[in-house]
Amino acid sequence: MSTALSNSLAGAAGAASSDISAAPLRIGLIGFGCVGQGVYDILQRLPGLVAEVRRIAVKDPTKPRSLPVSAFSFDANELLHDPELDVLVEAIDDAPEAFRLVSAALGQGRKVVTANKAMVAQHLPELLALQHEFGGTLLYEAAVCGSIPIIRTLDSYFGHEPLRSVSGIFNGSSNYVLTRMGDDGSEYGAALAQAQAQGFAETDPTLDMAAFDPRSKAVILAAHAYGVALRPEQILNLGIESISATDIAYAALSGQKIKVVAGLYLLPDNQLTVLVTPQFVSRTSPLYTVDDEFNGVVIDAEFAGTQFLRGRGAGGHPTGSAVLADVAALRGNYRYAYAKLAAPQLAYTTDLEIEIYLRTSNEVLLDQLGFTDITEEADEDGYIVGYVPLDTLLHHRDALRKAGAFAARTGNVRPATTQPADALALATAE
Ligand SMILES: NC(=O)c1ccc[n+]([C@@H]2O[C@H](COP(=O)([O-])OP(=O)(O)OC[C@H]3O[C@@H](n4cnc5c(N)ncnc54)[C@H](OP(=O)(O)O)[C@@H]3O)[C@@H](O)[C@H]2O)c1
Repeated sequence: MSTALSNSLAGAAGAASSDISAAPLRIGLIGFGCVGQGVYDILQRLPGLVAEVRRIAVKDPTKPRSLPVSAFSFDANELLHDPELDVLVEAIDDAPEAFRLVSAALGQGRKVVTANKAMVAQHLPELLALQHEFGGTLLYEAAVCGSIPIIRTLDSYFGHEPLRSVSGIFNGSSNYVLTRMGDDGSEYGAALAQAQAQGFAETDPTLDMAAFDPRSKAVILAAHAYGVALRPEQILNLGIESISATDIAYAALSGQKIKVVAGLYLLPDNQLTVLVTPQFVSRTSPLYTVDDEFNGVVIDAEFAGTQFLRGRGAGGHPTGSAVLADVAALRGNYRYAYAKLAAPQLAYTTDLEIEIYLRTSNEVLLDQLGFTDITEEADEDGYIVGYVPLDTLLHHRDALRKAGAFAARTGNVRPATTQPADALALATAE
């Protein structure tokens, strides 16, 4: 071995061993619910991570806890102003308060880890500006797909490679509900109650079931995977609140399952579109077998080809694992590169038509949606299959929810102004 090489290896080993012997990172944990307790529990089992929970803040002083009351602070501001803490982990279920806490911590140049996807999706530009101005770091791997390391994969590994699509099942609780309905024949309400009992559902189930939660995750991935900064309202999100056995049976007739698929798709002319809706998924898709509370992400990269990541998308330990992966990364001063956001090349478009299956008895809504190229229409079951302009769907999103309509896309998408023969070859990896 050459002297230079052995010296540099010795130097690297020295750096690593000095890191290992460094004092534990002192964590201030804000929130001790499903995620906060998961983080705490893993740290009790993994003392080698060289991090320890020094303080915990919660909200309700009357709630029974697994630790003595003296272990808690009931004012998160105390942790915010404690200079003895190296990292703040924010795991609360209140997005506006989470933003207040995280932005205040970043304003002090602190290192922060959050699991709050709604907060990151709504405030990413401000959070980036605060890090830039005050030198702090915010990591949020747990905010997207629980235990799956998708943000770091897209940000670091695929930071410079064009991606044809990034698509997947980003919400564990709606996937759990769909699995119970498909496999056990459960009614929607019973399946949702089961998801809540298992701790997979958000405090407000609308976030999961109306696909607001996977939409937030899609916003975050659009920034890392494509360098496109989106506001959540720009993305069509349709949920499963009105799904029925009729819809599950319709999918099964053609050997398919209904899954809530969040898809980010590169289009010709440097355009990107993002859709978060129920979709018919066939047996050939890697997403077909992603069941229960699991999440799955298919990355279709221009040169690397197709890759598939699958893992638990919710729950205390899987999400806690992602939080602690961020804490460990902070030891090495890791921060996201946002390489594609620094050199944006794509424009977001909704100027498309998508083929959907829609079940509704609301004739007015059917007229307003303006279906074309209808391939199926069954009066007795009240469904129709055809193309609808994406902008029209966005406009009528709330009306669809209010009317109790259920919509799922077939996977076919075409430019708004062309003929059927010009259908875009989208979603090939699904
Ligand atoms: N659950 C999952 O599987 C999962 C997965 C990925 C991401 N996430 C995200 O992780 C975050 C936490 O979710 P969770 O499921 O752990 O929620 P949770 O079980 O409802 O727990 C929320 C915790 O936050 C505390 N809290 C709320 N407001 C607070 C405040 N102002 N100051 C201090 N503590 C406060 C609550 O205190 P009390 O105990 O006093 O009520 C509770 O301990 C959310 O952003 C969620 O979207 C969750």
